Amino acid sequence: MSSALQTTDPEIYTLIKQEEKRQVDELEMIPSENFVSPAVMEAVGSVLMNKYSEGRPFARYYQGNANIDKIESLVETRALKLFGLDENEWHVNVQPVTGSIANFAVYATLLSPGDKMLGMNLYDGGHLSHGWKLPEGKKISFTSRIYDSHFYSVDQKTRVFDYENIMKIAKRVMPKILISGGTAYPREIEHAKMRQIADSVGAYYMADIAHEAGLVAGGVNTSPFPYADVVTMTTRKTLRGPIGAMVFVKQEHASALDFNIFPGLQGGPQNHSIAGIGVALKEALQPEFKTYARQVIKNAQALAAKLLDLGFDVVSGGTDKHLVLVDLRNMGLSGKEVALALEKVGIIANKNTVPNETGKPWNPSGLRLGTPALTTQGLKEKDMEKIAAKIAETLQSRNSPQS
Ligand SMILES: Cc1ncc(COP(=O)(O)O)c(C=O)c1O
Repeated sequence: MSSALQTTDPEIYTLIKQEEKRQVDELEMIPSENFVSPAVMEAVGSVLMNKYSEGRPFARYYQGNANIDKIESLVETRALKLFGLDENEWHVNVQPVTGSIANFAVYATLLSPGDKMLGMNLYDGGHLSHGWKLPEGKKISFTSRIYDSHFYSVDQKTRVFDYENIMKIAKRVMPKILISGGTAYPREIEHAKMRQIADSVGAYYMADIAHEAGLVAGGVNTSPFPYADVVTMTTRKTLRGPIGAMVFVKQEHASALDFNIFPGLQGGPQNHSIAGIGVALKEALQPEFKTYARQVIKNAQALAAKLLDLGFDVVSGGTDKHLVLVDLRNMGLSGKEVALALEKVGIIANKNTVPNETGKPWNPSGLRLGTPALTTQGLKEKDMEKIAAKIAETLQSRNSPQS
């Protein structure tokens, strides 16, 4: 019997089926992607999407929200529990539709227009939403048009952070907020040191753990909560939930944060996504999730080690996380051509900027590879070694005169 979607809209149905097949047939190695469980998908595809619920749990602008109220407050309780937080000290808002909106809501809460922010250089793995503007001044992120954004970089030689240097930059810039977190930094952030730097200049410390949320929840990356004033995260990456984001602030900022999310930046929350996040949080609270998080890192380390063996320039010499960043310049290749060549053999990765970048963001010098999705599918270290070998073979045949 055909499904409702198949009958109503065979074109969309067929494309979804093709995407379902692609996700199974190809190797998903984009570090910010994962596969949600059928339970998460069921919640996201539920009737919750029919309901408008502007406001906060138990304080809505619309009637008929008794169930939505219970769901959203349950999700908040699970979020606090997962990260071991005391509800008298920490407040969480699970409504931001994306990580970028979550971050903007934090700036709106803690900063005034024109205030200085200090975050990680995008070329070294930082994120657009931390106020990215080009070195020559072009303001890319809307955040950089409102706030005065500044950046710190990795050490040119080691390609890891030199916290003494970040301290020097902070003392020169005197930011109101110091931000850590990024999309392509393979090493753990030392949150205790970031706290010290923030304290030395009287700044707030915001840890954006969009990428590492699941690794922190699984206890295999350091938790920023003992050190940060604010923690933001997306829910779809290592945390293995649907698209969405969460912001955790100290109670003193709770009502300002909530106000900046709604009515400040958003309208009605996506109740179906929030429920899906709740299911993912419940899954992350189970002991198996710790095993998963540990395996994600073991896999990334096995991948990095094999790539190093095969002559690849693995940035920082390895990884503490779920991602591996490769600088392709020693092979005379660019990120774009490599990502396209790998796609042809069913390996889905993405081109990325690297420290000391000499290329352009649309054709950078690096390749970013991640293990969260493959680990969800049950792949192990030996599989990673085979994948590394396949990557090398693909690039060799690309460089050989016959190809
Ligand atoms: C560190 C960091 N912060 C924020 C975001 C923004 O997330 P979104 O794409 O949901 O806006 C990302 C997404 O990749 C990220 O890596």
